[in-house]
Amino acid sequence: MAEVRLEGIVKDYGGFRAIHDVDLDVADGEFVVLVGPSGCGKSTLLRMIAGLEEISGGRLLISERFVNEVEPRDRDVAMVFQDYALYPQMTIAENIGFGLRMRDWKKSDIERKVLECARILQIEPLLERRPAQLSGGQRQRAAMGRAIVRDPSVFLFDEPLSNLDAKLRVEMRTQIKRLHAMLGTTTIYVTHDQTEAMTLADRVVVLDAGRVVQQGHPLELYDRPNCRFVGEFIGSPQMNILDAVVDRNERQTVLRFGSTSVPTADLPLRTGAHVDVGIRPEHIYWTSVDDGLLTPKVDVYEPLGSDTMAICDLEGQEVTARLDPKVRIKPAERIGLGFDASSLHFFDPQDGVRIDPV
Ligand SMILES: Nc1ncnc2c1ncn2[C@@H]1O[C@H](COP(=O)(O)OP(=O)(O)OP(=O)(O)O)[C@@H](O)[C@H]1O
Ligand SMILES: [Mg+2]
Repeated sequence: MAEVRLEGIVKDYGGFRAIHDVDLDVADGEFVVLVGPSGCGKSTLLRMIAGLEEISGGRLLISERFVNEVEPRDRDVAMVFQDYALYPQMTIAENIGFGLRMRDWKKSDIERKVLECARILQIEPLLERRPAQLSGGQRQRAAMGRAIVRDPSVFLFDEPLSNLDAKLRVEMRTQIKRLHAMLGTTTIYVTHDQTEAMTLADRVVVLDAGRVVQQGHPLELYDRPNCRFVGEFIGSPQMNILDAVVDRNERQTVLRFGSTSVPTADLPLRTGAHVDVGIRPEHIYWTSVDDGLLTPKVDVYEPLGSDTMAICDLEGQEVTARLDPKVRIKPAERIGLGFDASSLHFFDPQDGVRIDPV
């Protein structure tokens, strides 16, 4: 078991700074997910922890040991890669046992340990096959077997599910979660998939352009994104962002969306200022045109069975609403949409920083 601590970690590739001053504490047994768009530095960060990439600046500690210069094999971490990296000429049993053979384990001990891992991962019947004779999901489990066989202090996963089809991805996600509950090993998991991040993580760390923008429990990020980037990244379907103008009449503050005004809590912004208003599709409900706070036109609707997505046009701004599937709507129809004022998020249109009502 182990904690992992990153103190001011920096990565430069020549003149390009891929990671800027990242601080991160991963507690013993914690499951931390690093999430962010392509190129934000997730793999770079993970590879530095694994020892596969040199650290340009800052300190890396595993179980309070300073390991910046320690060889990968001496860090007591095991990494699972996106492409599995299994040896094609070896059987699955040989692949899983490889790390133990390198450490001069006894043959009988290796066999026992490989079998134990294969049982946990339910790939016992596949042990004598070669990787080419396995499905994607089975290969994925074999790669996990190779990681867990050594009982490492830390698991590092780099998008382990991204080569699997959607159904298998969900199954494997559940299996990884079970595995963590069973073994309790400190885990750092990289993905660009926010659903994977939300479902697996004790704590989600959102990265953008080599910096940590926010970290917290999945629901903390969902309920209180500290910036527009996190608001849009976390949650599916994506949060709507609408441009509004702050206005005040004698009784209250209102948000003007084109010709429509919606009452709001007061904001620390001057009258006439623009603000980005965030509202999640699932926080919008259908109502009559007379009762609607917003009355856009339906552009496209998608009946999903469990709910219906209505993609609407609000005077040139797109609004997606997740509606009750019993609601019958048609394209080009004008509908009423309601929401609770407390479910709105406000962001500065310039720098995207969250603005709280006063
Ligand atoms: N060996 C390298 N030399 C130069 N630049 C690199 C190198 N490896 C990565 N980079 C750059 O560093 C940045 C971060 O890359 P990284 O692979 O960590 O992103 P990522 O978040 O894992 O993206 P993805 O989701 O696409 O895997 C990118 O801009 C990338 O182009
Ligand atoms: Mg990557």
